[in-house]
Amino acid sequence: MTINDVRLVELPRFLDARGNLSFVEQLNHIPFEIKRTYWIYDVPGGEARGGHAFRQNQEFIIALSGAFDVVVDDGKSTKSFTLNRSYYGLYVPVGLWRVINNFSTNAVALEFGSIHYDEQDYIRNYDEYIKLRSSGQI
Ligand code: TYD
Repeated sequence: MTINDVRLVELPRFLDARGNLSFVEQLNHIPFEIKRTYWIYDVPGGEARGGHAFRQNQEFIIALSGAFDVVVDDGKSTKSFTLNRSYYGLYVPVGLWRVINNFSTNAVALEFGSIHYDEQDYIRNYDEYIKLRSSGQI
């Protein structure tokens, strides 16, 4: 997988005088079965989250509130996606290094994962990530 496999997905929107509604479905807007949902919130100004890659886990990230940037890196190039509307999601396939930064005040990042939490699935060292990429192991 490369940064070109990262996709911004526009989600359905029902606009209504009473307020708006959006939704996501697994194996539809999200191209995998959801095994886990978590959210990141109350991020202090200037902090970054992530800074790792996954061996198996695929992700789908929504800015439920506020805004932040998701920076993806495949060892050769990087690309930054700004998420600032709750009707867009970012699909991040396996094997990419990713960082989430530039959180606005009150930003909430909702993340869906394709596997249960497993620390062994994380690659948290960038040099190790580059070695695994160059030897084709990830
Ligand atoms: P981590 O994935 O390192 O956060 P981020 O990549 O967003 O900066 O997770 C932070 C802590 O939360 C870590 O100790 C593991 C724990 N955690 C779980 O127990 N389950 C989960 O699903 C996630 C995502 C994290």
